[in-house]
Amino acid sequence: MTGAARGQGRSHAIRLAAEGADIIAVDLCEDIPSNEYPLATDADLAETAKLVESYDRRVLARKADVRERTQLREAVDAGVAEFGRLDVVVANAGIAPFGKGTPLQAYFDTMGTNYIGALNAIEVALPHMTENGGSIICTGSTAALMTHGTSNPANGIGGAAYTTSKRHIARLVHELAGHLAPRRIRVNAVHPYNVDTDMLHSPPMYRVFRPDLENPTREDAEAVFAAGSPMGIKWMDASEVSDSVAFLASDESKYITGLQLKIDSGQMLPMSSAGIAD
Ligand SMILES: NC(=O)c1ccc[n+]([C@@H]2O[C@H](COP(=O)([O-])OP(=O)(O)OC[C@H]3O[C@@H](n4cnc5c(N)ncnc54)[C@H](O)[C@@H]3O)[C@@H](O)[C@H]2O)c1
Repeated sequence: MTGAARGQGRSHAIRLAAEGADIIAVDLCEDIPSNEYPLATDADLAETAKLVESYDRRVLARKADVRERTQLREAVDAGVAEFGRLDVVVANAGIAPFGKGTPLQAYFDTMGTNYIGALNAIEVALPHMTENGGSIICTGSTAALMTHGTSNPANGIGGAAYTTSKRHIARLVHELAGHLAPRRIRVNAVHPYNVDTDMLHSPPMYRVFRPDLENPTREDAEAVFAAGSPMGIKWMDASEVSDSVAFLASDESKYITGLQLKIDSGQMLPMSSAGIAD
């Protein structure tokens, strides 16, 4: 589980522990200077570990940067040595440095974390997923599925990177699903709309939703958060994304692979066809 210290990653870790999994919990636990809002801390990761243990499951919590394959490999190898096997990968870590003023470095950090980070997690996990098949779940975003998402100048170079990285996730899932199917390793993506985490409640995200204001507050953004949702949902709880992650990790989805699972209260419906040939 990458990005496990807080938000959706913590929620997925707890949910999978409740279903009986031991957890390798990885997080950077440091800030990335090109990303305006603070990331998780050591204390956050320790809290995730405690919560996993409260389900009587084992946890190996490691500070590691998903941009650095060697750090991830060390964490995964140590976890497999301790737990004996690896069945599920959840590539979830992400940053969202949206905004006109974001530095060029935000492009590299976002692609490195959101896309290369997922690639790294999968690459180091695959050698351990040999006999029993397995399930790889990548966190995308509805941003991956929107038209014109990369080219909104108001979102800056960080916003372009966010959308590009999530599109690459969707493509990666599609390609790997085909290649790994003969090994019974399934590869799927979840694409959430707004989720109630620190990423959503951050100044860059508030500016995405209120481009009409220079320094929008949480209240300003909340007033329009539901506008993109036909169901009128402002945001989901992270646990509501975990429901889908738990399903995709389980045998209940054993013949589902290559799925781009929108969890969006209908947000994408006006922007897409029925997904069938005309
Ligand atoms: N919150 C939303 O509205 C939303 C919507 C769609 C998709 N997503 C995606 O969901 C995923 C989880 O985000 P979240 O909403 O829980 O936000 P979050 O900021 O609470 O969690 C992200 C976690 O990733 C960690 N992280 C960041 N860079 C890292 C790195 N280089 N190496 C290791 N860990 C790193 C952070 O420390 C943090 O714990 C992200 O991929 C995000 O793009 C979020």
